[in-house]
Amino acid sequence: MSNLRVNCPGGSYDVLVEPGGLQSLGGYVESLLGPARCLLIADSNVASTHAALARDSLEAAGIKASLHLVDACESNKRLSTVESSMSSALDAGLGRSDCIVSIGGGLVGDVAGFAAASFLRGIALVQVPTTLLAMVDASIGGKTGVNLVLPGSEDLGKNLAGAFWQPRLVLADPEVLATLDERERRCGLAECVKHGLIGDPQLLSVLSDDLECLLAADPGATARLIERAAKVKIGIVEEDERESGRRAILNLGHTFAHAIETDKALDLKHGEAVSIGLMAATSLAELRGMIEGDWVDDLRSLLGRIGLPLELPLARDPAELIARMRFDKKVRSGQHRLILPVSPGRVECIDDIDEDSIHHAWMQVMPS
Ligand SMILES: NC(=O)c1ccc[n+]([C@@H]2O[C@H](COP(=O)([O-])OP(=O)(O)OC[C@H]3O[C@@H](n4cnc5c(N)ncnc54)[C@H](O)[C@@H]3O)[C@@H](O)[C@H]2O)c1
Repeated sequence: MSNLRVNCPGGSYDVLVEPGGLQSLGGYVESLLGPARCLLIADSNVASTHAALARDSLEAAGIKASLHLVDACESNKRLSTVESSMSSALDAGLGRSDCIVSIGGGLVGDVAGFAAASFLRGIALVQVPTTLLAMVDASIGGKTGVNLVLPGSEDLGKNLAGAFWQPRLVLADPEVLATLDERERRCGLAECVKHGLIGDPQLLSVLSDDLECLLAADPGATARLIERAAKVKIGIVEEDERESGRRAILNLGHTFAHAIETDKALDLKHGEAVSIGLMAATSLAELRGMIEGDWVDDLRSLLGRIGLPLELPLARDPAELIARMRFDKKVRSGQHRLILPVSPGRVECIDDIDEDSIHHAWMQVMPS
């Protein structure tokens, strides 16, 4: 087991990476909060497996646990889902000294986190991530949120409402990834590639060397990857909890990804959209002459070996994609602000990127 500590102004807590650790959840929560009540907000796809185990563990530790299920799809990542979660918290009789335990991927974690931040103006939150992406990224750092419908359309803008609310504990048990389908596992690896690019070049070598074990969800190899990738995230959020500066580098590839991942016809999962976004950001960095060293082909090859897309499955009008990017939270006063890679482990935040360059970047990831 490894125990990583996060120290932020909004709260300090442990990230436990522990194969088989789910069975000890109740003990951990009890030692943090005493014999509290909790609402287990669970991804419906893990209801009968990991959420049932989590509930047994909580009850065995003397914590009264009620269950609220959430369907993990982006169209359901809405304020109405947060509201129904909070109604369940009321039904369960939760008070200020009780807690919400989220068990699921990043989507349920974001919804449950927002509910915890809002219910009774904020109660304790424990994150039990069940996807690789959520273990190395979404569960750490206190960002919570939901999507909003964009003006003049039926499309959703990603994470446009939310709160910063640090969890009291994150418990990452790599064994729960055994039930995750292979496509989702590949998506988690996309986020690990991003973490390598922004802060740990060695992570890219680990990914490349251990890829077969990682794709097979080997708990030992996965635990080592989670620990390394989580450290990148922890280092960044400790420096900049509220994304007023350095934390923005976590958005490498994401401003592009957000413009395509809610397009239903493209049928892209978050990690797949991030993979395309990483290639678009790299093309833009190449256009601006920012790339140092000879690593772009290695990146392309690693993403390809993982089985992630390097281009859009269907052609899209770059002008429409750029219009969607304007709704991203990183757009400031109408100017495009993007994180671009320089070399593995080094990225730069560039303000005021002209739309012709972004158009060029989108064209590089259109289907050939
Ligand atoms: N808060 C943050 O800092 C942050 C960071 C990155 C991403 N996110 C958000 O996270 C979301 C993506 O999260 P994700 O990639 O974890 O996907 P997800 O939560 O959408 O889950 C993906 C799918 O896997 C299923 N699933 C989850 N765990 C499972 C398991 N162990 N076994 C079987 N099925 C399982 C889910 O039901 C879902 O169908 C997005 O909404 C994104 O905006 C948030």
